[in-house]
Amino acid sequence: MTAGPGQLRELLDAFQARFPFDPAMHPADETVVVRSPGRVNLIGEHTDYNDGFVLPLAIDREILLAGRRRQDETVRVFSLNMGDESAFPVNGVAAPAAAGEGKPGPPGGWSRYVEGVVWALREAGFAVGGFDAALVGNIPQGGGLSSSAALEVGVAVLIKELFGLELDPVATARLCQRAENEYVGVQCGIMDQFTVALGRQGHALLLDCRTLEYHYVPLPAQHVRLVVADTGVRRALASSEYNTRRRQCEEGVALLRRHLPDIRALRDVAPHSFEQLRDRLPEVLARRCGHVIYENARVLAAAASLANDNFTACGQLMYASHKSLRDEYAVSCRELDEMVEIARSVPGVYGARMTGAGFGGCVVSLVRADAVDALVAAIEAEYPKRTGKTPAVHVITPSAGAATVFKASGDALA
Ligand code: GLA
Repeated sequence: MTAGPGQLRELLDAFQARFPFDPAMHPADETVVVRSPGRVNLIGEHTDYNDGFVLPLAIDREILLAGRRRQDETVRVFSLNMGDESAFPVNGVAAPAAAGEGKPGPPGGWSRYVEGVVWALREAGFAVGGFDAALVGNIPQGGGLSSSAALEVGVAVLIKELFGLELDPVATARLCQRAENEYVGVQCGIMDQFTVALGRQGHALLLDCRTLEYHYVPLPAQHVRLVVADTGVRRALASSEYNTRRRQCEEGVALLRRHLPDIRALRDVAPHSFEQLRDRLPEVLARRCGHVIYENARVLAAAASLANDNFTACGQLMYASHKSLRDEYAVSCRELDEMVEIARSVPGVYGARMTGAGFGGCVVSLVRADAVDALVAAIEAEYPKRTGKTPAVHVITPSAGAATVFKASGDALA
């Protein structure tokens, strides 16, 4: 369920209690509230960092952030979910030397994302001062629904609003990706931040990760719904394997370039040229590159089939994507595979696949509207039997990207 008035009230109460208005400290008694959603990717996995195509959507699970400017240069942020406060000086954040090159920066939990965004905005020349903020969210963490991108983009939009920055959603997404790459030290692509910043209600977003051209593809709720099933599995090796896959793709490009000198990324390799060269690559690299090259083609085909309301075709592409992620890219796991098979057994499910980086997290299913209840029931009955684990099932709605939802002064807050 989306954050309702109850969650907004809870957030504002906690914010007021934690950081009461103080005329000596706060230039104005105005509180800004931003909503920032998670995302799910319909198809196009491990393509974004290969300059390829993705088809994700923002979801109705989100983080709400309430904030108010301060006179000084201190940032204080309180997380209701964690029961934890972080404070730092705006000019005291510097990208850790250890970050980048796939090495994570120093540990520090959720507040690293907040610091990273402040750092990236200041690096880009924006005047960011101190502020107080509180946040609360309902995006499952570590489940592949981009709670971290939601936090980053939410913080950026809050700061933009508080300090009147000239920052459009595409620039916001790029800055937040930079924060994650260079400050947090995770080498993600642009998909998550872009989707969180630019999602549109009732639509998926077809994004060209090279040019950042995008257009919206309707997902008519009267015909299809999306069910996201969390396996409950979280694998620590996800980030090291992610970086390994990135490196393998780069190695593949370097080898393919000997024969195709004009290519810059796997995005530039057509399936038929790849088939002619496949044998020249070491087997593992050929499988990794093959996944990306065919996945790009699947994304474009899926967007075209959705535009024609051909959900059956789109679903078949999702199953093919999962198979390729399992067998060629090797980023699935037994629980994800079981979840996909359970979905496949339910009449009215068009397609299902793992979503996000892999090694646990969620499966997304494209479902005929009248089959949602049967799918949820099948997952709840079958998944524990097959895996001994309890699933968390979310029926989700494509939602709008991060935006300010509320502004009020003290009186109106009371
Ligand atoms: C993670 C990354 C994204 C993308 C996916 C895989 O979610 O943050 O940039 O690479 O994995 O498609």
